[in-house]
Amino acid sequence: MEIVNSKAKLQALLSGAKGNKSIGLTPTMGNLHSGHLKLVDAAVKECDIVVCSIFVNPTQFGPDEDLANYPRTLEADKEKLYSADCDILFLPTIAEMYGDNLNSETTIHVPGVSANYCGKSRPGHFDGVATIVCKLLNIVQPTISYFGLKDYQQFLVINKLVDDLRLPVKVVGIETEREPSGLAKSSRNNYLDSNQLDLAAGLYATLQWAAGQLQIPLCNFIAIEKSATNRLNQLGLTVDYFSICHSNSLLPASQKDCELTILAAVFLGKTRLIDNIHVRL
Ligand code: PAJ
Repeated sequence: MEIVNSKAKLQALLSGAKGNKSIGLTPTMGNLHSGHLKLVDAAVKECDIVVCSIFVNPTQFGPDEDLANYPRTLEADKEKLYSADCDILFLPTIAEMYGDNLNSETTIHVPGVSANYCGKSRPGHFDGVATIVCKLLNIVQPTISYFGLKDYQQFLVINKLVDDLRLPVKVVGIETEREPSGLAKSSRNNYLDSNQLDLAAGLYATLQWAAGQLQIPLCNFIAIEKSATNRLNQLGLTVDYFSICHSNSLLPASQKDCELTILAAVFLGKTRLIDNIHVRL
């Protein structure tokens, strides 16, 4: 595996591949777990050359969020990527991605799907995500880029970014990797103690419960959201949102919709966890 810090070196490495080999990109912020590696595995299966980027992107963190404490485990990440047969690890610096002044940079805003849920609770978050993903796609110019469905709203934001800006890349979504308890794997699970990890499993259990309720004919969506919120609050998880949405638009679901996604975010102490479940009616 080649490890490169600059876009010039990365592009030199990839120059021979352009036009005759497929390139897969898996953008990450590091602290890799088996969820990230599922993306890398899919890329290894489908593409000739696999690039994984690790970049803790400052512009997607709010001023009171965990940018400074975000887990950084580069040596372990490198080992995992070697074992996963990743070809190139791209490890840019902040200056490489943004230049000298983060605040004077062009920013991409993806309207609509970014407005609510995490977009509302974390102002500016999706602008930061869209901007860095657009930069990575422009630098790597992959054939396929892989994203996790765990961050479902992010996945839709990136799809719209790629569609609207006519970026020549296929976006693929990969199913959420979970702990045996059902808890979605996340770098932020590292912030939880063992008691909190047990409680956190209640998030997916409640999503599954709500998904079951949706199968009952003429069920009341608002009542399900309220009951789920109460269940989670009783467990000690503070609900940020628990919303039954239309899967493509993320607008509140109506009785006519067949593809629904339940999006949820909770706080466990200071740690914010998100998850979702897809329901076909
Ligand atoms: P990060 O949280 O490191 O996640 C990198 C990729 O791994 C994302 O596409 C995310 O959805 C996926 N992922 C995380 N946990 C997963 C799980 N349990 N199962 C499957 N996939 C999972 O998401 C980001 O970084 C950043 O916002 C990024 C897209 C890199 C832009 O900075």
